[in-house]
Amino acid sequence: MQAFNFKVPTEIVFGRDAEEKVAEKLSAYNAHRVFITYGGGSVVKSGLLGKIEKSLQSAGLFTQAKGGVQPNPRLSWVREAIKEALAFQADFILAIGGGSVIDSAKAVAHGTANPEIDVWSFWSGTATLTKSLPVGTVLTLAAAGSETSDSAVITNEETGKKAGLNTPFNRPALAFMNPELTFTVPKKQLICGISDILMHTLERYFTNVKEENALTDRIAESLLKTVIACSFRAIKDQTDYDAMSEIMYAGTISHCGLTELGRCKDFACHKLGHELSGRFDVTHGASLTAIWGSWAEYVYRDDIPRFAQFAEKVWNITSGTEEERAQAGIAKTVAYFKEIQMPTNFTELGIGVQKEDVLVQLADSCTAGGTKVVANFHPIDKATAIEIYRLANK
Ligand code: NZQ
Ligand code: ZN
Repeated sequence: MQAFNFKVPTEIVFGRDAEEKVAEKLSAYNAHRVFITYGGGSVVKSGLLGKIEKSLQSAGLFTQAKGGVQPNPRLSWVREAIKEALAFQADFILAIGGGSVIDSAKAVAHGTANPEIDVWSFWSGTATLTKSLPVGTVLTLAAAGSETSDSAVITNEETGKKAGLNTPFNRPALAFMNPELTFTVPKKQLICGISDILMHTLERYFTNVKEENALTDRIAESLLKTVIACSFRAIKDQTDYDAMSEIMYAGTISHCGLTELGRCKDFACHKLGHELSGRFDVTHGASLTAIWGSWAEYVYRDDIPRFAQFAEKVWNITSGTEEERAQAGIAKTVAYFKEIQMPTNFTELGIGVQKEDVLVQLADSCTAGGTKVVANFHPIDKATAIEIYRLANK
């Protein structure tokens, strides 16, 4: 097992009515001026935003809210919000929504704490983040895991670059998680979220680490099996509280870092998928499943026993040679994505078959102009990225 550091400082309030604890917990956190971020209006329609604003104000806190965060959240919105949060003298940023709203809140927190630095510099790597404001989240969609993750993903719409920033400053202080709030998520977002949750563990399960990691492996396999089983129940009845609870809980566990302890991250499909979202504005989870089967087909020979273990532990595939089991596990996973109506290639993703020069541009951007190699299960340079995009390009 490899050495690791693991610190997830987020206090999680989970269960029915979790959002009713917002005022009490923020007050205990010494928040006074709360800048709230939200999305395209689902939280206005449900009354959640109004309810939380009212409870904060009744507890003597000042609030200012800014909506309009779009999926694949945009840098221009973040820059505007930072100006507003500074004028408001915010000392706490509260996100009410899904991953896009939370990531925007994290960016607003960083920008507000560092007004002399252009916030994109933290994402482009030209500045290092040394301080930020505390962030709280009221999660309305189980997917990105941003409620405890050390990551935030922002799209610079001027360049079409969607980039992630990993820093301990991204770990929120508080997360309020009421599974009932996810009952209204559109079906497409539900299945994209489920897929993203699975991918966060899959991208930690297939890495170049060869040492034994029995406990982390069993946690990962168990998470994958639980989410797959609950996905069918949730798709059938989105008000199934227990199924939606398991999915919400798994969303957090899958991306807080637990399923990489003693191992590492690969994140090949996330890197390749972010290029698709940056260019075509496709939903994050869909960008991942559109790539995964092609990625797996291209790389599985690097570690056939690992893919065979996955097939056995997650899909109960025990017959055939090791390589046949590995292949069957990949086929079963792709079939599962199809079954829950997730895309498994570019056409199903809705972007159609792309010309070769587009694939080259995507691969170029993914590897910083061909200067970087990403991922580690199978290191992906520009030529390899093109090959994987080609396999998905149907
Ligand atoms: O904007 P509103 O009106 O709120 O509607 C949203 C949005 O249209 C809707 N929605 C959310 N909760 C709802 C609801 N509609 C009805 N009822 C509810 N309860 O769902 C739509 C999608 O929301 P979004 O926040 O974009 O989805 P998700 O949570 O999947 O977040 C995706 C973003 O997170 C990033 C992705 O790249 C993408 O930009 N990720 C962030 C990560 C992180 N910070 O750790 C890791 C992930 O790998 C991912 O990259
Ligand atoms: Zn993801």
